Amino acid sequence: MEDTLSEVFTQCWGKLLYGSLINDNAFHTGVLGTQGEGSIGMRTVVLRAVKPDEKQLVFYTDKRSSKMTDLTAVPFANWLFYDGSERVQVKLLGNTIIHHMDEVSQSHWQKVNGDARKLYMAVPAPSTSTDYPTDGLEHLNSGSNTEDAYLNFAVVITTVDFIEWLSLKKDGHRRAQFKLIDGSWKGQWIIP
Ligand SMILES: Cc1cc2nc3c(=O)[nH]c(=O)nc-3n(C[C@H](O)[C@H](O)[C@H](O)COP(=O)(O)O)c2cc1C
Repeated sequence: MEDTLSEVFTQCWGKLLYGSLINDNAFHTGVLGTQGEGSIGMRTVVLRAVKPDEKQLVFYTDKRSSKMTDLTAVPFANWLFYDGSERVQVKLLGNTIIHHMDEVSQSHWQKVNGDARKLYMAVPAPSTSTDYPTDGLEHLNSGSNTEDAYLNFAVVITTVDFIEWLSLKKDGHRRAQFKLIDGSWKGQWIIP
């Protein structure tokens, strides 16, 4: 039996929520697209949290990274997820808000463990050229204070207003779009 548009919409948010919680799930990482200066920026990021009621996706990053330059200039994100086992692709678009040194970033920082905190302490900053291969963490030692990493820690929240779902099946592919219009979600089947 065919899924209804409403079931597909619920399935999208269910898959995203599950992916954010389960490390080895296909939707635990997604491709984040941003508008760069003269080109599109794309990179894999971990989906750290999902709020289905608010239609929000959350990722963490270093505030010195290129994607932050993009999102500061154009606060709009494209997300792309693909689950190869179910052959389902979900694309989402929405506006972004960057949280740095505020209550939101502080509450997420409490969930970042010691080793992961070090990743925000690269010197020099992400994307800087170096004379040899390095992660920029050589300056750290056992006495290093990982609280300093918080200065570079940013939480980015996308509030989704467009979703496109694609399901590949032997007996016929299916594709649907959902748009937030005047506060209500409108679903539409489209040709895959
Ligand atoms: C599996 C995987 C997960 C990643 N997760 C993140 C992440 O959650 N946040 C992040 O900033 N970069 C993450 N990265 C690194 C980015 O893909 C990217 O290389 C880096 O952030 C620099 O991107 P930018 O120069 O476009 O800002 C991840 C990379 C991989 C391969």
